[in-house]
Amino acid sequence: MSIKPILSNRRTLLVGAPALLVGTAAQAAGSCKVSDGDILGPFYRPNAKVAASLIDAKTEGEKLVFTGIVLRPDCKTPVVGASVDFWHCDHQGAYDIKTPDEKIAVENYRFRAMAQTDKDGKFVFETIVPGRYGIPPGLEGFEKFAGQTRPAHFHITVTHPIYLPLTTQVYMSGDPFIAKDPWAKHSRNLMQVSRKSGKASGLVELVLANRPGQRVG
Ligand SMILES: [Fe+2]
Repeated sequence: MSIKPILSNRRTLLVGAPALLVGTAAQAAGSCKVSDGDILGPFYRPNAKVAASLIDAKTEGEKLVFTGIVLRPDCKTPVVGASVDFWHCDHQGAYDIKTPDEKIAVENYRFRAMAQTDKDGKFVFETIVPGRYGIPPGLEGFEKFAGQTRPAHFHITVTHPIYLPLTTQVYMSGDPFIAKDPWAKHSRNLMQVSRKSGKASGLVELVLANRPGQRVG
């Protein structure tokens, strides 16, 4: 079983994208909602190392500075010290593993890293724009979606002792494959990508939910 790589259409994703927006979705009046969850997907692997950069001098693809801000359910207060688990495929749509059951040593991980949110609820990864990929036939649980092209996306799981864990994906605004994707088309986790000084960057806010029974406020 293999994943058919499909190159990103960078013109669609990046050209004409609005400037980096700060505090938009979560803080807009009357629109405070916890972030959408999304599928974990079959290519998650645990125990990625803590790292601010997922790339090196040999890494191919469009460089991207990915910034996230984790917020409490009030959509404005930063969550400090949340653990962020982040992974995605390469610029050609290939993960570092080819099948869901493939074993891989931690030292051979590519495009997987962890971080902790800072005093502003922020985490930053220096990485690349991932490619799109087709869902292969026979993938357990995804059989009826075989052949569909997934929009470019980043996987993220955020955990914190106080709030419900959030497993989700972040898509890039303007990707035409979002509308046809069974998961992305329902998601509000859309990142605007801007290019300044020849480098792509984007910001997304992730709002955690309270655990059941937890006092709000
Ligand atoms: Fe994925």
